[in-house]
Amino acid sequence: MNVDFKKALVTGGAGFIGSHLVEALAAAGCEVAVLDNLSGGHLSNLESVKSRISFYENDIRQLDALEQSAADCDIIFHLAAVVAVQQTIDDPISSTMVNNIGTLNVLEAARKTNVRRVVLASSCAVYGDDPRLPKDESMTPMPTSPYAVHKLSAEHYLRVYGELFGLKNVSLRFFNVFGPRQDPSSPYSGVISIFMSKAASHQAPVIYGDGNQTRDFIYVKNVVKALLQAGQTDQKTGDVFNIGSGSRISINRLWELIASLNGQQSEPVYHSARGGDILHSVGNIDKARSILNFTNEFSLEQGLELTLEWYRGQMGEVGSGNGEV
Ligand code: NAD
Ligand code: UD1
Repeated sequence: MNVDFKKALVTGGAGFIGSHLVEALAAAGCEVAVLDNLSGGHLSNLESVKSRISFYENDIRQLDALEQSAADCDIIFHLAAVVAVQQTIDDPISSTMVNNIGTLNVLEAARKTNVRRVVLASSCAVYGDDPRLPKDESMTPMPTSPYAVHKLSAEHYLRVYGELFGLKNVSLRFFNVFGPRQDPSSPYSGVISIFMSKAASHQAPVIYGDGNQTRDFIYVKNVVKALLQAGQTDQKTGDVFNIGSGSRISINRLWELIASLNGQQSEPVYHSARGGDILHSVGNIDKARSILNFTNEFSLEQGLELTLEWYRGQMGEVGSGNGEV
């Protein structure tokens, strides 16, 4: 996909979504700077583009470091964050320093270095437990964790910087993103990353609750396309957009699909439902479709197939670093 900007800074660019974005930007001929403190990301995620990007091992809590890496950039994609909800509950002060002060630093760096646009990775978590489906952007957000409060306030900071300083920006509320390089190592990692690593090693997964809960899963390359499109819109500055597949699937059905792609018979093991687990989630993506021209190029099945292939490759390469995607 072609882009209309020449140089971009990606915060959190060594992470799961960020590294796919960096690859797409480099493929589009864009000069790319990445700022990441490697607290969750890995340099190996950027292996395929390392000779074509500038990497800054730095922290978004340091304004001067952000200013240095934002120099001459037309746009900042702000993805760096404390992403584990539980970590924001256990340590709300430190995570607020990253997720909120870090976001303010990004906006200040943009203002001081004359960056024209900022795109924020926000989350469907801002909707909280609102049982109405599908979630659409006109609903009043009702965060239920510090993480969701951080994302909601970050969205507002962007809007305010648009109004006060003319900084063009949009926030994208990602639903459940999956794909290669998603880290399965914590029990609170994305369910697809956990199911994939189980499938790749022919083990049975654990399903919490009866498995009839549903989610809106979106393949990472579809998210990258949304980020690139959002980076090129001058419409609706300060606005928010849901980015999901627009449909939902149960966790039982999800495992059936993965198991069948893997030619596997293993029955899942059922455990009691997780406290605080929401039952159903799906985003209305009409607004992104009509304003950002957003479409889901990869179906769930295609995304699962590509993801399984990658996790299988990882199993074959244990001890020899990450494979390229
Ligand atoms: P990730 O953990 O793979 O990526 C986050 C990156 O930010 C990591 O590389 C980490 O090292 C970096 N980082 C963290 N703290 C930093 C700091 N203080 N300074 C500099 N870098 C720092 O997570 P991801 O899934 O790729 O998420 C990317 C963004 O998308 C996040 O903002 C997350 O909240 C948002 N998001 C993700 C999902 C999802 O399903 N994965 C859903 C909604 C929103
Ligand atoms: C996701 C986010 C969370 C955010 C929430 C907002 C991730 C990893 N988590 O949680 O940060 O607050 O959206 O709506 O993106 N499950 C199993 N077995 C497993 C793992 C999970 O059955 O091994 C179930 C969970 O109980 C849940 C579903 O799968 O019902 C999805 O879990 P998960 O991938 O953690 O995402 P969310 O719960 O939607």
